[in-house]
Amino acid sequence: MGTSTNHKPLSARKTGPLKGTATAPGDKSVSHRSLILGALTVGETRVSGLLEAEDVLNTAEAMRKLGAQIVRDSEGSWRIHGVGVGGFSEPADVLDFGNSGTGVRLTMGAVATTPIMTVFTGDASLRRRPMRRVLEPLSLFGVTATAREGGLLPLTLKGSRSPVPIEHRLQVASAQVKSALLLAALNVPGRSTIIERAATRDHTEHMLKAFGAGIAIETLPDGARAISITGEAELRPTPIAVPSDPSSAAFPLVAALIVPGSDVLIKGVMLNPRRVGLLDTLKEMGAAIDIVNKRDEGGESVGDLRVRHSALVGVDVPPERAPTMIDEYPVLAVAAAFATGKTTMRGLEELRVKESDRLAAVAAGLKANGISVEELADGMIVEGRGGDVHGGGEVLTHMDHRIAMSFLVMGLAARNAVRVDDGSMIATSFPNFESLMQNLGAQITRANR
Ligand code: S3P
Repeated sequence: MGTSTNHKPLSARKTGPLKGTATAPGDKSVSHRSLILGALTVGETRVSGLLEAEDVLNTAEAMRKLGAQIVRDSEGSWRIHGVGVGGFSEPADVLDFGNSGTGVRLTMGAVATTPIMTVFTGDASLRRRPMRRVLEPLSLFGVTATAREGGLLPLTLKGSRSPVPIEHRLQVASAQVKSALLLAALNVPGRSTIIERAATRDHTEHMLKAFGAGIAIETLPDGARAISITGEAELRPTPIAVPSDPSSAAFPLVAALIVPGSDVLIKGVMLNPRRVGLLDTLKEMGAAIDIVNKRDEGGESVGDLRVRHSALVGVDVPPERAPTMIDEYPVLAVAAAFATGKTTMRGLEELRVKESDRLAAVAAGLKANGISVEELADGMIVEGRGGDVHGGGEVLTHMDHRIAMSFLVMGLAARNAVRVDDGSMIATSFPNFESLMQNLGAQITRANR
C-alpha cells in the first residue's frame, strides 16, 4: 500500500438516471504495445488515441531510456522513432514501471535477446507480483535473470548474446507472458513457436503482423494455438489508431445497467472477440445492451454501445470465458450484487495475482456493503440483492484501480454512499474516470479522510 498521505479517498452516492454519451479512453494493451513495437521499428511510427495514463507513460519513459525517441504532438497523438529489433542500448538507470504488469513483462521480453543489462522495478503492488512466469520461459532463450526471493522485482536481466529459438507451451493463460516471448523471439535467428491452450488477447499477434513480422498461427489437433515467429525481423512503421478500451468502458456500462432509468451511449468500444466476455455475460444476465454502428477501425472491430438500466438475473459464468474478460470480474461482481439470484464465477486463480488479490478485495468490498459472497480458491459466488444494495461501506482498494472504479460504480445505485480508501490508482488506466462519469450524471466526490 502507498503511504496514507498520498491517498485520495473518493465517495459515490445514489444518483438520478445516467444519461448522455461517453467515449472511454484508448485501450491500455494496445497503447503499451504501440510504444514497444514502435521502439523496435526503424523509422517513425505514428499513434493516435494513445492512452495517456500513468501505466502507459511509464512504458514510454522506459522506451526512451532504451534509446527510442518519443514525441507527443497533441492529446493522444504520438510519434515514435524506433531503434530497430536488436537496437536497444543499455539503459543508464533503472526502468520503473509503476503499477503496470503489462509494461514490465512485455519490456522484459523486448530486451531479453539483446546483450544489454536492464534493471526493472515498480511500485509496491507490482513488486509483490510474480515474475517467474516470464523469467523461466525467457531463460530458454539464454537470458540470465537475478531477482528477489520468489522471483520478485526489482530484478536484473542480462540479455542473451547468442539466443536460440525455442518451442514453448505456456504454463499460465497470460497474454503478457505470450507477448513477452513473442517480442523476445523477434531478435532470435530462426523460428520460435509459442503454444497457448487458452486463447488470450491477441493484440501482439495482430500488431506484429501489421508491422511486417513473419508470424504464422496454427490450430493444433488438441485445439491449442501455435504462434510461430521468424526472428531477426525487420519491422516496418505502421500508423496505429488505438480504439477505446473495453475494460474501461465496462465501468460506465455497468453503472448504466444498475442505476434506474439510465440510458447511455458509449462510443467506439473495441470489440475484439478476445475482449468481449463481459458483454456476453451481461447479456445472459438480461442486460439491455445494443451494439450499434459496428465498424472496422485500425484493424479492430469497434462499435457504439447503447446501454439501458436492466433488471439483471444471476448466472453461472463459464470458467473457459475467463481469458476474454479477465479484468472485468470486479465490475461484474458489482453487477451481480444488483441482480436477482446467485452469480457463480470460477476458474479465476489468476485474479489473485493482479494489481491486488482481486478475489479477496472484491469479496471484502461486497461484504462491507451488505452483500453475501462466498470466496472460493478460484472464484466467488455472489448473492444478488435484486436491485436493493445496502452500501454504506468503506472499500480498501489495495493499490488497484479496478477495485476503486468498481465500488464507486456500486455507490451510484446503492442505498447509502460507498467510499473507497484510495482512488489515486485510477490514474494508471482511466485518468478522466471521474469527469466522464460526472458528465453522465454520476455523483462521485472527494471524501473526507
Ligand atoms: C494484459 C493481459 C492480462 C490483463 C492485463 C493486460 C495485456 O494480464 O489482465 O490487464 O495487455 O497483455 P495477464 O496476461 O497476466 O492475464
